[in-house]
Amino acid sequence: MPGMGNSLRAAALLAFVVLSILVSLLISGVQQFGARTSHSSNAGLAGDETEAASLRGELIYHLNERRKEIIPLLLPDDDVENGVPRETLHSSRLDSILDHNLWNEITHGSRKAHMDEMGCDSLVGMQAVEILGSGYTKLVVKVKLAGGQSVALKLVNEQGIDMGKCLEDFKDPHGCRELVSYKLKKEIVLLQRLQHPNVIKLKGHCAGDVGGEGGRITVILEQGSPLQMIQLLQSPWEDRFRVCLDLVRLLHFLSQSTLGSVALLDFQPRQFVTVSGELKLTDLDDASAEETACQTNTDCTLQFPHRNFTLPCSAQGECEGLNEKRNIYNAYRYFFTYLLPHQAPPGLAHLVDHIMNSTGDLKADINQTLEAFEHILHLYKSGLHLDNLPSSIIKDYTMMRGMGTSGNVEYRCWPSYSPQGCVLSVHSAREAAYVCNSHSQCNSFTLTGQKTWTGRLLASFRSRFSHLVPDGMSEVYVKKTNAPESSIV
Ligand SMILES: Nc1ncnc2c1ncn2[C@@H]1O[C@H](COP(=O)(O)OP(=O)(O)O)[C@@H](O)[C@H]1O
Ligand SMILES: *[C@@H]1O[C@H](CO)[C@@H](O)[C@H](O)[C@H]1NC(C)=O
Ligand SMILES: *[C@@H]1O[C@H](CO)[C@@H](O)[C@H](O)[C@H]1NC(C)=O
Ligand SMILES: *[C@@H]1O[C@H](CO)[C@@H](O)[C@H](O)[C@H]1NC(C)=O
Ligand SMILES: [Mg+2]
Repeated sequence: MPGMGNSLRAAALLAFVVLSILVSLLISGVQQFGARTSHSSNAGLAGDETEAASLRGELIYHLNERRKEIIPLLLPDDDVENGVPRETLHSSRLDSILDHNLWNEITHGSRKAHMDEMGCDSLVGMQAVEILGSGYTKLVVKVKLAGGQSVALKLVNEQGIDMGKCLEDFKDPHGCRELVSYKLKKEIVLLQRLQHPNVIKLKGHCAGDVGGEGGRITVILEQGSPLQMIQLLQSPWEDRFRVCLDLVRLLHFLSQSTLGSVALLDFQPRQFVTVSGELKLTDLDDASAEETACQTNTDCTLQFPHRNFTLPCSAQGECEGLNEKRNIYNAYRYFFTYLLPHQAPPGLAHLVDHIMNSTGDLKADINQTLEAFEHILHLYKSGLHLDNLPSSIIKDYTMMRGMGTSGNVEYRCWPSYSPQGCVLSVHSAREAAYVCNSHSQCNSFTLTGQKTWTGRLLASFRSRFSHLVPDGMSEVYVKKTNAPESSIV
């Protein structure tokens, strides 16, 4: 169907035109890029032809290396389970057989039918909205598709460090784009193989010789919000705990994936986004399932800026649990230390301290760490950590069902779910009464029926209010001793 192919090509071309305009508008350094390419085309002095040939050879070598990295990730799981040892995959004979499949998989998307449904045709008529982020390798743009859905597109970052370094080394824009594109291809394969609630969802991809430029590839992803550590530091403990719990669930999954135990080599908050408060890994091009070979334990050293660890070398000559432990310590140093201990509920603080200690010293594996997190979640959800709150404190309050308040005199507390007043999550009216008793300004509170992600109730605390108003879902609690007479109906 040549008509179909043409319209797809036209659509994809249009897509890139839109993107290119956006990119050149929002990103500086375009001239710098132009200067670099023209510099490379002027470099044609005597003797440089052999140099050019050797550069070309070196680039081809790197292209092959990148390709070889992807091939073992492509094999269907059965082949591994049926006893084909992974090492045989590195032989060059197999490479050439598998190479064809690699291109079919990625370029023509033979997996497309079941996992990754959007293609170039989905991008017809899209509108670029904003740049969501960029890194060494990739540029991420938010677009609105013709149907109104917002998605994130990942592309090669033409102004990125990867591209810049390659151009400096090889002076070949076309070859460099192809080289950098391998990272996107690797990411597509990994996103297909490592599907999990805490990995960004791959919606599709568009590849091909769009506009006569080979190696172009666009990945279509679920749109998230880049993780803002500063903002997270000011959020309620419950939300910070959620990010850490999601991370641990992800690391547990990665430690026993079908590819083996996967390490995230470039482990930083900027490789994650949130989607409706849920943490999702988005940068997978530096994920590796390779095990480290060893002869003695000293070959199994994990080095971090303030801490080194030595792990056991197994009888099979592999560092045992190295990938898993690397991930745990990175989770500790980039996430837990900032997000977890601060303002933990008093009844859970000792459990949080235990997690901090066991992950910071790598004493627990990921299974034990996940268990400890899920235990905290269970206690927190069920309110069991509040055991020692006297049940009598609720008797200090008069409750009015189906009512809300107006004419409120608010006060602020920290960290509040609302910047105007004091809104906190509680397990029950009893916990809310306990909180109100501990705030000198508090005289009444409302349970609105709204819930947080754990199912805890949002309670808004205030100093005074002038009227009660009917409000189907709400319950108003007023302190008996200090309650102004006018506010009791
Ligand atoms: N699906 C997404 N939704 C929103 N922002 C994203 C998404 N994916 C990535 N980003 C943002 O784009 C940045 C660059 O993407 P990333 O894959 O990390 O590229 P690189 O490999 O160059 O680091 C990320 O740091 C993140 O802030
Ligand atoms: C970790 O090991 C490296 C290399 O052996 C060494 O230079 C460094 O001082 C060690 N760091 C710590 C904190 O022990
Ligand atoms: C864990 O606890 C031990 C004993 O109390 C202490 O020596 C160690 O420094 C702690 N480690 C961390 C990472 O907090
Ligand atoms: C961790 O848990 C998984 C199941 O969730 C299990 O298959 C695996 O053997 C456990 N690993 C260890 C070291 O206990
Ligand atoms: Mg990144």
